[in-house]
Amino acid sequence: MSRHLVLTGFMGAGKSSSASRLAKALGRACLDADAELEARLRMPVAKFFAQHGEAEFREREEALVLELLAREQPAVIALGGGALGSKKVRRALKKHLVALLEVSADNAWARVRKSDRPLARDESAFRALYAERAPVYEDAADVLIPGSGTATVRDATPLLRELLGRAPGPRMIWASGKPWSYPSIFEPGLLERGDLWLARRDAVTVADENLAAIYPWLDEGIVVPPGESSKTLAEVEKICSAMAEMRFERGRQLAAVGGGVVGDLVGFCAAVYQRGTPFVQVPTSLVAQVDSAYGGKTGVDLPAAKNYAGAFHQPDGVLVDTDALAGLPKGELVAGWAEVIKTALIAGGRLWERIAKGVDFKQPIDPWIVFECARTKLAVVSADERDNDVRQILNLGHTIGHAIETTVGYGNMRHGEAVSVGLAGALRLSGDGELHKQVVALCRQAGLPVRARGLSADTVMDVIALDKKRSGSTVPFVLVGAPGDVTQGHTVDDKELRKVVEELLR
Ligand SMILES: NC(=O)c1ccc[n+]([C@@H]2O[C@H](COP(=O)([O-])OP(=O)(O)OC[C@H]3O[C@@H](n4cnc5c(N)ncnc54)[C@H](O)[C@@H]3O)[C@@H](O)[C@H]2O)c1
Repeated sequence: MSRHLVLTGFMGAGKSSSASRLAKALGRACLDADAELEARLRMPVAKFFAQHGEAEFREREEALVLELLAREQPAVIALGGGALGSKKVRRALKKHLVALLEVSADNAWARVRKSDRPLARDESAFRALYAERAPVYEDAADVLIPGSGTATVRDATPLLRELLGRAPGPRMIWASGKPWSYPSIFEPGLLERGDLWLARRDAVTVADENLAAIYPWLDEGIVVPPGESSKTLAEVEKICSAMAEMRFERGRQLAAVGGGVVGDLVGFCAAVYQRGTPFVQVPTSLVAQVDSAYGGKTGVDLPAAKNYAGAFHQPDGVLVDTDALAGLPKGELVAGWAEVIKTALIAGGRLWERIAKGVDFKQPIDPWIVFECARTKLAVVSADERDNDVRQILNLGHTIGHAIETTVGYGNMRHGEAVSVGLAGALRLSGDGELHKQVVALCRQAGLPVRARGLSADTVMDVIALDKKRSGSTVPFVLVGAPGDVTQGHTVDDKELRKVVEELLR
């Protein structure tokens, strides 16, 4: 049986209108469960609710939705906001491609508060229902799409068509900023198969030697030495020259296969080669899969400081194979946990709860954690690509972390390790003793350092002062109020900062 495309989401997400547009674009029938139900009940939902109550309504709804899902002819089906409350429906959905149209509680309320929907009469009950249903939608979804933006749904249509034609399994987050919009696909096993299906057929891969040793098919593309010492303008020149030699035309695609170094380096080459050529990110390290591959920050280091030459250049898409992490050296995996812990602090909610309750760091990372980290980062960069505002929260732990990394010398300490020390510092500056203790304990459990002994506090303070986000005479800091409440732009007194830095270096 061919799969249905099923749209889910809260009231006001725009499921009905998106379903009809998608059905047209995909050449499928559009089935709107609420409309079908009203026809069958021979009365509006609100009236049926009032006369028979919610329990009876849910029973009828479940029967109808199961019937629609069992139809042979592949369709686009829009489900009512409460349909996923049924276990049977959730089970039946596993065979189909389920797309969650995301909408914030504020936007949803603004859209439906004046409607006749029976569950949209009282704002606080509405918000409580939103909070209760959100995880149910998320767990059932293969695909997350920002809701009700006509342009976003239109942009995502070719990828939805592609996913419908592929075997079930991959998950996708569609991210949309201004003026870009692209998919991140999560599909284990891709690299082993050499199947970079999101990339164009004639894409040229750039990988580092370690990756090329694991996946020999990468030898056909460009191969660079591994490690931070490759993130240089000299390496950019080498790659761009190799591209010119192979008569790589502008418009052809690069595919960056590797950790954050390869992603940043190749992204920068893509940004500058013939004034810009497209590229896809294929992150293989934990740092890259949870953080660096998303958001379009590309660049290289200068001797003066990290990431000092760079450009914003968004990829055409990101292809994530969590199976690749099995080959990652332990130290690199550990370093990645610093970005996971940082991202969980930013996200709060379920991601933080999952991390805070204790992770068995010896087991392979749960792909759900990678997915949620990516989702958190993509949501932030969609709101502020250029780092003018909220994107700065992603630098949590990085002001001190980068200064330590620079002081130690690139390549002598992993980025994630430096971030872990920086996180300990940022939490100390944030002033919540309990959370500081909890994060330090988590980092230690993961095998991360929370101190950088032996460095000179003067040097670290000098490098912090050089921080590129410096405005006037102060360096703005990212601080944590609570998990999920991370804010940028805080001024920290120099004496207090010095005290914390000295503590970290002791
Ligand atoms: N652009 C951004 O938004 C952003 C965000 C965070 C970090 N970064 C950058 O990312 C870089 C750090 O990334 P990283 O930690 O991935 O470093 P990395 O790219 O050097 O990778 C770490 C090591 O792991 C190896 N490796 C990667 N994937 C592997 C796999 N699947 N199997 C075996 N070995 C594998 C690499 O060859 C390398 O030796 C830093 O330069 C940092 O500045 C950028």
